[in-house]
Amino acid sequence: MKSLDKWINIALPKGRLGEKAYQIFESIGYGCPSIKENNRKLIFENEENGVRYFWVKPSDVAIYVERGAADVGVVGKDILLEQDSDVYELLDLGMGKCRMAVAGEKGGRPDADKTLRVATKFPNIAREFYRKQSIDIEIIELHGSIEIAPILGMSDVIVDIVETGTTLLENNLEPWEDIVPISARFIANKASYKFMNAPIQEMCAKIEEIIKNK
Ligand code: PRP
Repeated sequence: MKSLDKWINIALPKGRLGEKAYQIFESIGYGCPSIKENNRKLIFENEENGVRYFWVKPSDVAIYVERGAADVGVVGKDILLEQDSDVYELLDLGMGKCRMAVAGEKGGRPDADKTLRVATKFPNIAREFYRKQSIDIEIIELHGSIEIAPILGMSDVIVDIVETGTTLLENNLEPWEDIVPISARFIANKASYKFMNAPIQEMCAKIEEIIKNK
């Protein structure tokens, strides 16, 4: 049996992105067949290749990795920027591509004389974006369905993820400014990267190889 410190603990975001990421791990030899069982377990391990997977909320992945509960993980760049996570960003996985953008009502523009009311799930990204332009804003922090805020007149703009643009379109909004491109990143805990450098580097090299050939 492998000693406990030999396991590589991998935090994956629950959902489509995490499932795609798992397929990469599986294809390079870190499979864990029990993960495909249809149950509500959140931890899966394969003693043979020493990997243990945790399914966590996408916005919590970086916290598990930063605190060392997971050695490595897959997380969106939006989360890393918003949480200013103290982790190593090892690879851009080139999946989960979208962008962080400012959006507002179609054809509209905010009144430059008033403090801009910004509804968002990403207060730090929004604050930083407007701070650099010396624009005064008021943050209205929401946790989902951000698009409703300007429609109801609660905010002037939103700062949110735009992937296909369909949500904006269907709610009579449009992107006004792009803030930053987003994609999934392979990250590592700083201490794990030091003390488990060989296995993490090996995993990283294999992932890099497979995404290069995609
Ligand atoms: C995200 C984002 C937008 C939508 C954009 O929401 O907040 O609402 O996806 O995607 P689109 O450009 O392809 O329409 P998510 O699905 O994460 O749900 P949430 O708003 O409940 O967080």
